[in-house]
Amino acid sequence: MTLLDIRSLSVTASTQGATLPIIQDVSLSIARGEAVGLVGESGSGKSMTARSIMRLHGRNVTADGTIEFEGRDVLSMGVRELRSYRRSDVSMIFQDPRAAINPVRTIGAFLTEGLRGSFGLSKQEATRRAIAAMAAVGITRAEERMAQYPHEFSGGMLQRVMICSSLLANSRLLLADEPTTALDVTTQAEVVGLLDDLRRERGLGLLFITHDLDLAAGLCDRVFVMYAGRIVEARAAKNFESAAQHPYSRALFEARPSVDFRAARLPAIPGVPLSASESADACAFAPRCPYATDECRTSLPPLEEADAGDVRCIRVHEIPRAHLRGTAS
Ligand SMILES: Nc1ncnc2c1ncn2[C@@H]1O[C@H](COP(=O)(O)OP(=O)(O)OP(=O)(O)O)[C@@H](O)[C@H]1O
Ligand SMILES: [Mg+2]
Repeated sequence: MTLLDIRSLSVTASTQGATLPIIQDVSLSIARGEAVGLVGESGSGKSMTARSIMRLHGRNVTADGTIEFEGRDVLSMGVRELRSYRRSDVSMIFQDPRAAINPVRTIGAFLTEGLRGSFGLSKQEATRRAIAAMAAVGITRAEERMAQYPHEFSGGMLQRVMICSSLLANSRLLLADEPTTALDVTTQAEVVGLLDDLRRERGLGLLFITHDLDLAAGLCDRVFVMYAGRIVEARAAKNFESAAQHPYSRALFEARPSVDFRAARLPAIPGVPLSASESADACAFAPRCPYATDECRTSLPPLEEADAGDVRCIRVHEIPRAHLRGTAS
């Protein structure tokens, strides 16, 4: 069953009299129990996509297109429906949980306030549920932990608290915006494992935002690669590395940190990314792409099916596979 259906989403921001595109023509769906990865470099529009799903973009920002959650049109929701949607249908967790939690209130107060306020539960019942949910996300000594303050929690534990709060709200969709970027590798693996377990056990939909293509391919069912506000490749996560076709997806794999070369300098993708507004009528990756032709620099490639996925590259069938896999360079 489709939980979230985004069709042709375009987001523009007006700043100092000018209107700049941020996201262009993004279509993406998430089914119940499905994990979808959204991957791209800094500034590609990943967070703006998540904020649009929550309708939490700034005042200067306009969204066009359709965002449906369980068949309801999010962009046209009234104030009350929107409030209930944000409170109990969809939750968002961020890179820095400390920024999203009041430092002077206890973890118990943070976890139970929504249950008491929105769901009208008694203090006792709210506490009971919060303790059970803390145990479900792997927080031990939950009763004791409830009385503690955020500074007494590690980053990983605090991220568990944020995930716990979305479970308590009964959210069906979890938007995780770089939830593990600030954590060490071991804690990162634990939090990713927890998200994966919850998705399987509770049938949550998960949008996992990261710049780590490997991590997304390992955790998710499908991966969407974003560049300059557009989807440039979308396909099943399984075998993503060998199936990836867009030169940008390939470049991301080549630029990743390798365990074998930890001490060596990371290869970076040469050049800087264009913004969505600088690349309206061209392939935004063309200035950095070794395969770009004049046509790539002067016309916008459509997103088209290629090898059981969708790819936005007019040269996709011409580039030798060996080159795409990076074996020939
Ligand atoms: N309210 C706004 N007004 C104008 N421009 C904005 C606004 N919000 C975001 N942007 C711009 O939109 C682009 C996409 O931003 P976004 O935060 O979605 O990127 P991102 O992919 O999440 O990057 P990162 O990996 O750094 O988090 C950026 O160029 C950003 O500066
Ligand atoms: Mg972001």
